[in-house]
This record gives sequence, C-alpha cells and structure tokens, in this order.
Amino acid sequence: MVFALVCGAAAAQTGAGTPPTGTPEERLKVILQDPQQLEAYARMGQKVSLFCANCHGDGGNSVSSEVPNLAGQNPTYLLTQVRQFADGSRRFEFMERLIKAMSVDERLGVAVYYARQPVKPQPVKDAALVAKGKQYYDKICWRCHGEQGHGSESFARVAGQQTVYLTQTLQNYRGSIGTRVNPLMTANTVHMSDADLRAVVAYVSSMR
Ligand code: HEC
Ligand code: HEC
Repeated sequence: MVFALVCGAAAAQTGAGTPPTGTPEERLKVILQDPQQLEAYARMGQKVSLFCANCHGDGGNSVSSEVPNLAGQNPTYLLTQVRQFADGSRRFEFMERLIKAMSVDERLGVAVYYARQPVKPQPVKDAALVAKGKQYYDKICWRCHGEQGHGSESFARVAGQQTVYLTQTLQNYRGSIGTRVNPLMTANTVHMSDADLRAVVAYVSSMR
C-alpha cells in the first residue's frame, strides 16, 4: 500500500537515546518535556509531513479551505484525532486508511512537528460579520477553546482555522451526523442558527 511505503520510509530511528515507553499519550508527555527527544521526533515528523503537505500544506497551513490547518495545533489534540481516525470513532475514509498505516512513532513525530509550526493569519473579509461572531464566541466557545482560540492541552486550537472546514465541522457536530461524535461540542452547537454559525466561522478563522 502506497501510504505504508511513504510513511515507512520516514520511519527512521530518531537517534535520541532510549525511546519513551507507555501509551502514546504518556509517551507524548515525556517527549514534550525532553528537549533532545522533542528535536528528534520533530525532525522525524517533518519528514513524514512531506506527504501530508499535499493537502495540509507546508508546515501545516492547509492548501484548501476544506482541509484543516495542523500548524500550531496542540499536540495532545492531534494525537487524539489520529487515534480516533485509527479506531474509526472519527470518520473520514482517506485519513483513516492513512493513519492506520503509520507507526506510533510517526504519529508522535507529526504531532510534535505540527504543534511547533506558526499559523498563517487569514484575511478578514467582512468586519461586521466578524464582530457578530466575536460576541457569540465570547459568550460560549471561549470557555473551552480559550479567549484567543488557542485551545489548551485538552481542547483544540481553533484560531486561524480554514473556513469551509470550520463550517462543515460545526454542522457535523450540530446535526450529530456521526462522522464526529463529541457530547460537549454537540451541546454547544445544537442551538446555533445558520447565521450564528456563519458569524462564528468568520470570527474564528480571523483569530490569530
Ligand atoms: C488527500 C488529502 C490529505 C492528506 C494527504 C492528508 N490529510 Fe489529514 N485531513 C484531510 C482532510 C480533508 C481532513 C478533515 C477530515 C474531516 O473533515 O474530518 C484531515 C484531517 C486531519 C487531522 C484532524 C485535524 C483536526 O483539526 O481535527 C489530522 C490530525 C490529520 N488530518 C493529519 C494528517 C497527517 C499526519 C497526514 C500525513 C501523514 C495527513 N493528514 C494527510 C486530508 C488529508
Ligand atoms: C465545554 C467545552 C467546549 C465548548 C464550550 C466548545 N467546544 Fe469546541 N470542542 C470541544 C472539544 C472537547 C472538542 C474536540 C472534540 C473531538 O475530539 O471531536 C472540540 C472541537 C471543536 C472544533 C474542531 C477542531 C478541529 O480542528 O477539528 C471546533 C471547530 C470547535 N470545537 C469550535 C467550537 C465553537 C465555535 C464553539 C462555540 C460555539 C465551541 N467549540 C465550544 C469542547 C468545547
């Protein structure tokens, strides 16, 4: 399978002493606290990312509005999403097949690599819509995603995210379509009107 070839070729040893053990989440914590491991995993993740760049762009600033940026995303969140694609709890066929072909080391490598990349700011198109979206965001969304939209260890960064991706993602949560299931996000989108959703997307994508 082509993915196994591409990703397998990048599965080189990280060359930074004894690799951490435990669950991927436990290993990620150890890597993030050890500058030498962090460098080694980020370098390996950068190699793997050459393949991902076809869609997620160089350094994780996506090439299409339908594909999420990975740049600046928190590494724990990235690892969680990767696990969800692998175990089928998040549905997107291409990503599911791709992630299943990646080793745990490669998954850790891409998570730490992308987390360190800067997010390219997106141009503001409609200032009035953005202001309306900010009001909504500041009432509801900031509690988990942060005032600046930068997220935290347990919550996704949303600032600067791609507009079409944001729209589809929020609609999926709101409609409980089943491609992504999260009770917190369903509870926080179920009362959004289409107009609220458009405004919030305009604001969130413009955040830096
Ligand atoms: C053919 C295009 C394509 C390629 C190549 C690709 N992806 Fe994706 N990826 C997508 C799309 C589209 C989504 C959004 C799926 C959805 O709507 O749930 C996505 C979603 C993701 C997400 C979830 C992001 C979030 O904000 O929740 C992660 C993580 C991810 N991809 C990692 C990778 C990695 C790592 C690689 C390379 C090994 C890769 N992708 C290669 C198209 C691609
Ligand atoms: C109570 C906490 C909470 C609140 C409030 C909340 N979210 Fe979330 N959000 C989450 C969690 C948890 C996830 C990750 C879900 C998953 O793994 O699918 C998430 C995921 C997301 C994602 C997907 C990120 C990505 O890269 O794919 C977007 C976009 C998002 N939230 C936007 C919003 C917006 C906009 C609001 C306000 C209307 C909001 N959230 C309110 C907890 C929250």
